[in-house]
Amino acid sequence: MKLGDTVPNFTFETNLRKNQNLHSYIGDNWLMLFSHPADFTPVCTTELAELVRLAPEFNRRHVEILAISIDSSETHRFFNGGNNLPFEIIADTDRKICTELGMIDPDEQNSQGMCLSARAVMLFGPDRKLKSKILYPATFGRNFVEILRMVDGVQLGNKAPVATPVNWISGDNVIAQPSLSQKRVINELCGGDPNKCKVVPLPSGKRYFRVIVGDAYLQN
Ligand code: BEZ
Repeated sequence: MKLGDTVPNFTFETNLRKNQNLHSYIGDNWLMLFSHPADFTPVCTTELAELVRLAPEFNRRHVEILAISIDSSETHRFFNGGNNLPFEIIADTDRKICTELGMIDPDEQNSQGMCLSARAVMLFGPDRKLKSKILYPATFGRNFVEILRMVDGVQLGNKAPVATPVNWISGDNVIAQPSLSQKRVINELCGGDPNKCKVVPLPSGKRYFRVIVGDAYLQN
């Protein structure tokens, strides 16, 4: 899937329910589709535990979490022991969804010689379009602080014509998108106050690096 593509309306089964479809599942929320190789493996266990811990942070950002691996719904239920996970796990036993979304790791196989799912994160907006993705091999565990940072930055860019600089974290100043006219920067991002746009002096003398001080753009 490429950025901006609409996620297909897959029908799927999870540890909890059969015959769901992805578009209804998303509803008016964001969706983080989160693939992992298999339920009873050490790295996946650390990641799923971290996802349980951080689930309220995703909820606060209106992001539904939907995990997916190539295990069966029975295995997911066993792993889930008592249905206490704050998210559902898709049973993609035929690898249809993972294959179509490019979430397979060709280098890692299970005991039957079948490829495992990779460690992908796909963030879809309420419009069901792909806004961002991360793709790691099965052997490399993800950084959930970075995933939350990605959600924050992408949601911000979706709300206002801003961009976020290197190592930005929520609350830091943002940058006006380069294509935006100075008039729009002042009106739409600075609440009409030109002092809230600081142009960073550069050796080239060009005035493209415009930092927005404060968060007037969030009030719109
Ligand atoms: C794990 O989750 O521990 C794992 C899964 C596949 C390959 C390597 C590690």
